[in-house]
Amino acid sequence: MAIQWFPGHMAKARREVTEKLKLIDVVIELVDARVPMSSRNPMVDEITAGKPRLIVLNKSDMADPRVTEQWIKSLKRDGVDVVAVDAKHSKGLGQIHEGALRLMKEKHDRMIAKGRRPSAIRALIIGIPNVGKSTLINRLAGRNIAITGDKPGVTKRQQWIKMKTGEMELLDTPGILWPKFDDQRVGYRLAATGAIKDDILHLDDIALFAVRELKTRYPEQLRERYRLEELPGDAVEVLEAIGKKRGFVTGGYVDFARTSEMLLHELRTEKIGRLTLETVEEWENE
Ligand code: G4P
Repeated sequence: MAIQWFPGHMAKARREVTEKLKLIDVVIELVDARVPMSSRNPMVDEITAGKPRLIVLNKSDMADPRVTEQWIKSLKRDGVDVVAVDAKHSKGLGQIHEGALRLMKEKHDRMIAKGRRPSAIRALIIGIPNVGKSTLINRLAGRNIAITGDKPGVTKRQQWIKMKTGEMELLDTPGILWPKFDDQRVGYRLAATGAIKDDILHLDDIALFAVRELKTRYPEQLRERYRLEELPGDAVEVLEAIGKKRGFVTGGYVDFARTSEMLLHELRTEKIGRLTLETVEEWENE
């Protein structure tokens, strides 16, 4: 689903999330571990202010584990509660309940001291499109739930879903937020990882961006995948060499559209290996 965000949509999405926040104890903010900052909404801190929040680095199976560790350390240092999971394959999901309990501990302890039994923690999953919100809700629920509300502006009656493990309930419609479209680097990172559909940015441009990123961050993985003896200095030449290796040549010319499509498909499906396109250090400098 390609989503076009207009100011009116953003205001509505924000309103919908704000309404949902009134119903819950804990916010579970889902981000993509391959682009942990670019896949966050620029106003999420402000929108969720006052609610305990757990940041979940999802799709960690596709991210560079070394860089994910660095992100976790850095966020924890900043006082953020953060865990890394792989919702698709149900890996690490126990940490979400544990995290929510951690965030609610003080409140629960106070209730217990007054002789009251804490009720089930109510949580809301929020995030930009395609970070895995529906997948996570289904895995936590232990069954498939039709998440029809997972479109901005589409509302339905909300229900609480009991989580498979632990005393926790999830709102069955996630909160959808918009990414930082105004920053071009962010747009390209999201496009390269597949969060933004290809019709928004030009495919060849995304592929060239991806080549430059791979050349800088993961040159060995790029070389090995396409059996390139060396990497030409220029991104267009690298793409051309990849096209040639794959035999995407017609009338003596490399078919750049086909090569771009193949490269992006392989990048998004882990054929080039586990990759992260932004590091803590860069983000601090940016
Ligand atoms: P959303 O509700 O936030 O929009 O995201 P959704 O759950 O629809 O997930 C978007 C895509 O990301 C889906 O792939 C889903 O399978 C994949 N995904 C979600 N979590 C993870 C994860 O932890 N690891 C990996 N590797 N993938 C994940 P799809 O290609 O659109 O659908 P499908 O082919 O998997 O059905």
